[in-house]
Amino acid sequence: MEYARIAKPPAAEMPLRPNLADYEETRRSWSWERVRRELDGLPGGSLNITHECLDRHLKTARRDKIAMLWEGKDGETETYTFAQMVAGANRAANGLRKLGVEKGDRVFVFLERVPECYFTVFGTLKLGAVIGPLFSAFGPDAVKDRLADSGAKVLVTSPDLWARVKDIRKDLPELEHVVLVTRRHPAGPEGGVLLWDEAVGSQSADFETVATDPEDFSVMHYTSGTTGKPKGAAHVHNAIVGHYATGKHVLDLHEDDVYWCTADPGWVTGTSYGMFAPWSNGATSLVYEGGFGARAWYSLIEKYRVTVWYTAPTAIRMLMKAGDEAPQKHDLSSLRYTMSVGEPLNPEAVVWSERVLGLPFHDNWWQTETGAILIANYAAMEIRPGSMGRPFPGIEPAIIDDDGKELPPGEEGNLAVRPGWPSMFRTYWNNKPLYDSRFQNGWYITGDRARMDADGYFWFVGRADDVINTAGHLVGPFEVESVLIEHPAVAEAGVIGKPDPIAMEVVKAFVSLNDGYEPTDQLRREIMAFARGKLAAAVAPREIDFIASLPKTRSGKIMRRLLKARELGLPEGDTSTLEED
Ligand code: PRX
Repeated sequence: MEYARIAKPPAAEMPLRPNLADYEETRRSWSWERVRRELDGLPGGSLNITHECLDRHLKTARRDKIAMLWEGKDGETETYTFAQMVAGANRAANGLRKLGVEKGDRVFVFLERVPECYFTVFGTLKLGAVIGPLFSAFGPDAVKDRLADSGAKVLVTSPDLWARVKDIRKDLPELEHVVLVTRRHPAGPEGGVLLWDEAVGSQSADFETVATDPEDFSVMHYTSGTTGKPKGAAHVHNAIVGHYATGKHVLDLHEDDVYWCTADPGWVTGTSYGMFAPWSNGATSLVYEGGFGARAWYSLIEKYRVTVWYTAPTAIRMLMKAGDEAPQKHDLSSLRYTMSVGEPLNPEAVVWSERVLGLPFHDNWWQTETGAILIANYAAMEIRPGSMGRPFPGIEPAIIDDDGKELPPGEEGNLAVRPGWPSMFRTYWNNKPLYDSRFQNGWYITGDRARMDADGYFWFVGRADDVINTAGHLVGPFEVESVLIEHPAVAEAGVIGKPDPIAMEVVKAFVSLNDGYEPTDQLRREIMAFARGKLAAAVAPREIDFIASLPKTRSGKIMRRLLKARELGLPEGDTSTLEED
């Protein structure tokens, strides 16, 4: 069913939303070089993300403007001006330098959403080192894999999170320092760790930003694929050109905006759009340490007078579930523009928010690898509910077949993009061959299936691979299967995404047992707890079915598609390669 289109905003509101009002003309005349000239740059053609997000504002009236409004999970609040953000980043940069961190070294941050997380990110970037943010719900295996693969030199974490994973240290010879942020809990008596207050807090608030080349590495985020462990998608400082441009033209950020991105910095949305896009545009950004709660979220919008809000479909579906009356109990009149990313946004959700909040959610599309938004429904344009929108200026996506041939409007195929946009990832860490394999026939292959309509709006169809999208988190089935088979009872495991009304998909595992184990409920619970302990709760299977043997191809690959078809009661499709017993 095609949903009614939502007209572009009335002319009276347009002064705040002028950016892509003349979309065709903006696209025609687009120049990344011109965008780059809107940024400051450093002498000699250098470019540094922290300089563009923070330092450059100190020469302007924004110096004493609030950059970060912070609310902790227990309701405590702090505010930081741009000048205070710079001081925090400078102390972190000085502290890290003292620990021996040099340009190109990897620093990882495994923290709750506290201000020190933000100072670490910007301090590391100032130093020319590479920052790797980790999701605070990760278990020991997830953290170890990332630190080991990247060869991280320093980990900044908290006593609570470190207690969860500290056994991994013996397996990480390259990890020289662990720095604990003790804002909530004092560190335990163990040795071998440093305290943030000593290593960073006592440092000078002056630091001269290292003159990074636009092509120097800046940020890496690990992302899941069908095979193997998560890969570190590495970005460069030049990505800030994309963050800034999309912050201006997609997030529609203006000087007086109070902006809230609900994503965690452990995922790419939380860095690109929780930090880089808003602050490079000089906006005030709200950081809330707590998790989802309909009442808490509506209260935050009311309390901080949030104007621009960027969130995700799972959260929106949970808000819908909380009822139409819930928002009515709050004054949400400050909101002027809302967006969503990370999973398909149901057209019902767009229509719901238009009816209940008076504002439709604007869907947009991108990936860890693309670094920034590439396709969007823009503030000044008509929305087609269910569509991801139209290409950002300077971006050339297409629907192609498996041979790289462009398909006409209406036909489903592979979503691909012409390489070369500023925020494009530059490698998978330690895995150049895999990186190269993502580029074929002159296209970057996104791994998504989609179609384009006659007016150039893109519509998401599904993933081309077995990667699971649960509540906006990508989960590689192989990663989960590998953990499951570490359990002594498990012989083999096959993992799929099972459709779910709220999270879109939940992780479901099929396991066969070793001889001598009985498929009991207790064993099921035990295996689930085992997986949760090693992976993040969001990644561990929510359901486990015992099965005598897993369907496999003749070459021994688990046929996840068949498991899924059976789970959903769908036709099993081509099973000609199925192994015969
Ligand atoms: O499958 C697409 C889905 O999420 C993937 C990217 O996930 P990740 O690398 O974790 O990046 C998170 C930052 C957005 C995509 O390949 N996806 C993302 N946005 C949408 C989406 N699927 C449908 N509609 C979207 N708007």
